[in-house]
Amino acid sequence: MVDWVKIRDDFPTVKRKIDGKPIIYLDSACMAFKPNQVIDALCYYYHNLGACGGRSIHSLARETTELRDAAREKIAKHVNSRSTNEIIWVRNTTEAMNLVANSLHFEKGQEIITTNLEHHSGVLPFHKVVKRKGLKLKIVDANDEGLFNIEDFENAIDKNTKLISIVHTSNVSGTTAPLEEIIKIAHDYGAYVVSDDAQYFPHKKMDVQKSDADFCTVSMHKALGPTGIGFLYGKEHLLKEMDSFLVGGDTIKDVKYENGEMIPTYLEPPYKFEAGLQNYAGEIGAGAAVDYLNSIGMENIEAREKILTEKLFDALKDVQGIKIVGPMDPSKRHSLVAFKLKNIDTAGDIANYLDNDVEGYKIMIRAGAHCTNPFHYSLGIKPSEGTARASIYLYNTEEEIQILKEALETLGELIAD
Ligand SMILES: Cc1ncc(COP(=O)(O)O)c(C=O)c1O
Repeated sequence: MVDWVKIRDDFPTVKRKIDGKPIIYLDSACMAFKPNQVIDALCYYYHNLGACGGRSIHSLARETTELRDAAREKIAKHVNSRSTNEIIWVRNTTEAMNLVANSLHFEKGQEIITTNLEHHSGVLPFHKVVKRKGLKLKIVDANDEGLFNIEDFENAIDKNTKLISIVHTSNVSGTTAPLEEIIKIAHDYGAYVVSDDAQYFPHKKMDVQKSDADFCTVSMHKALGPTGIGFLYGKEHLLKEMDSFLVGGDTIKDVKYENGEMIPTYLEPPYKFEAGLQNYAGEIGAGAAVDYLNSIGMENIEAREKILTEKLFDALKDVQGIKIVGPMDPSKRHSLVAFKLKNIDTAGDIANYLDNDVEGYKIMIRAGAHCTNPFHYSLGIKPSEGTARASIYLYNTEEEIQILKEALETLGELIAD
């Protein structure tokens, strides 16, 4: 049995007060709080090491290299990849998507399939490459609840399809796409799949061998890790074939000039993709975040969050004038609820009210289009109006959700017509 109350003690920020008011943080889908264990790992690097990994051969550099290698190993094990060579450190999901878009080899006339539910990071890098290389972008639409009809992928795919980019769990509807089925369809046509796991990885066990995903993209800052660090998982044979996107120091075995021509020889993955001195503290902190998640157990986290998500949905569904985005069956969503309130023009007004005008608490949610303008347009919501989004993580409590409900009920009464 996990002691969820004790878990909260690991997170210094949950105990913060601002203007004398305790905070209620319901914005973990944007950025998760960090446990002491992760903060300690970061401090260890800055207090005791502060050196580069990989390059220098002195003792501090050797320890840095050992710790970053160990962190890569932890991530590889956590997602069940075949080798640490399949894990590339990047800044975030966005950079991982850009890496795939710019490094995979595309030929004129080939197609990329994506959806109207994607975060901008999962589609803009591919839109650019489509324009640059004369490819075609096909869009599969989710329904208004954020759910896909698998037949739409079967109908969209053909022999020219090279890649499907799909958001695994949506940051607006909270729904999870049938990834394994989509991968099977793609592979039947010789196409690859890159999944956006920004909102999946923090909450559920990822198994890249089971899903057979070709590429997965993750931001560690949403999974209790430090800011500015994430990873790309890619099948090793694909990474080997791909051209590197960022080049420079650390990516090469050798560079020489012969007869006035430059001849670089690049390293094997993952190193050929990791140009320049890296975010060593971030990598070590990312390893500590994975250790922390595993010390609780991903199954326990998922089960706990299922309860909290249902509580959140039940708390919000009866608020006067509320319109919830995504499925009305809470078991089809995970960890978040996005919504609008009648008579309130912009979601920012809701977020400001909760942060500044609730008696006794500062409640923090996200407001805006959450980098999913196309899905907002599909729902008939202008991105400038946006939606409010409350999202939970393992440190939240049922009491916090109840306080949100009461605050929204008060707001609903204040603005009722
Ligand atoms: C579903 C989804 N994909 C991609 C991203 C982009 O993540 P990052 O900004 O860390 O690159 C986010 C961030 O909110 C997200 O929620």
